[in-house]
Amino acid sequence: MLVGDKNYQSIWLDESDPSVVRVIDQQKLPFFFEIAELRSVDDIYNAIRNMTIRGAPLIGAAAAFGIYLATLEITNTTNIRLHLENAARYLTSCRPTAVNLSWAVNYVTDRLDPGLPPNLLSSAALESALSICEKEKNNCMAIGKSGLPILEAISAGKKGEPVNILTHCNAGWLACIDYGTATAPIYLAHNSGIPVHVWIDETRPRNQGAMLTAWELGQAGVPHTLIADNTGGHLMQHGMVDIVMVGCDRASAKGDVANKIGTYLKALAADDNKIPFYSALPSSSIDFGISNGLEEIPVEERDPEEITSVSGFLRGKIESVRICPENTPALNFGFDVTPAKYITGLITEKGICKASRKDIKEMFSDKFN
Ligand code: MRU
Repeated sequence: MLVGDKNYQSIWLDESDPSVVRVIDQQKLPFFFEIAELRSVDDIYNAIRNMTIRGAPLIGAAAAFGIYLATLEITNTTNIRLHLENAARYLTSCRPTAVNLSWAVNYVTDRLDPGLPPNLLSSAALESALSICEKEKNNCMAIGKSGLPILEAISAGKKGEPVNILTHCNAGWLACIDYGTATAPIYLAHNSGIPVHVWIDETRPRNQGAMLTAWELGQAGVPHTLIADNTGGHLMQHGMVDIVMVGCDRASAKGDVANKIGTYLKALAADDNKIPFYSALPSSSIDFGISNGLEEIPVEERDPEEITSVSGFLRGKIESVRICPENTPALNFGFDVTPAKYITGLITEKGICKASRKDIKEMFSDKFN
């Protein structure tokens, strides 16, 4: 996507030095546009853990590059099979909820023959990591095309008034490789002249909506308004929301969706107000091996300090301030699970399907044994 007048992806390999993976530092946005250089498995692990890079598809792609960087660390005394197994286990352990992480690590390691000489192993690993990036870009563009007719249909009934879309967290191109998931139909609609307006949930505690989605939509010229997370229900009651579109970190085979904490509450409000609620996701975010999302999806618990403090921009610097009395106990779950019954549909690269085992199996039959 364009940043200023230059096209960017969220992650890429440095042309001049293939041992360096470059990413947009999402901890600095929207205040600074900085590129971080990742040169080791540890760099990738830390960048995912501390959320320099975040968002399910991007976490997957980064982990894939992590396996590639692990092959560059092989010396002639390295037990290659053990080294790759350790790197895979380590990378897969850095965040538990987004299934793309383990999917991507397995995708690369399944294509690596430890018996190969290190240089061939590295090119095989790089080829797999780059193909994951290409796949996810194509998936997001296809998700855009799958979701566009939904916005067109709503727009047709709005007599030129904008389609009001509520979104939660950042499921944009920064969270993917390009185009985004929930944002892909929005960008396509906007670029094709369909009037749209996006209500952006700030998305406490890390404010991905306020910091990243607002920045993305601003760059693309898409009309938007930032709201407190607790405002969406009120807007829905007053007819100010036509549709809710969110991303997904892990969907179960029967259509339960894990996404940023707070998504479930938006689904409940949408259901109560009969507003369509869609989750946009590539099939790499579907865990075909699990059924009951509430019981089987691991929900990340993060540092309570993310709750007790908030970061922002002050006198030219990014500062963090405490927002409660010192030593206030806090609990910080990063995600929640929206049961399939509250989801109008899943917007995928293969089209829109109902959030049910039957429909998901029909659309992704090759993924079911
Ligand atoms: O904690 P984050 O920022 O990684 O959470 C991200 C989300 O919940 C996104 O909605 C999800 O990963 C989909 S990204 C296309």
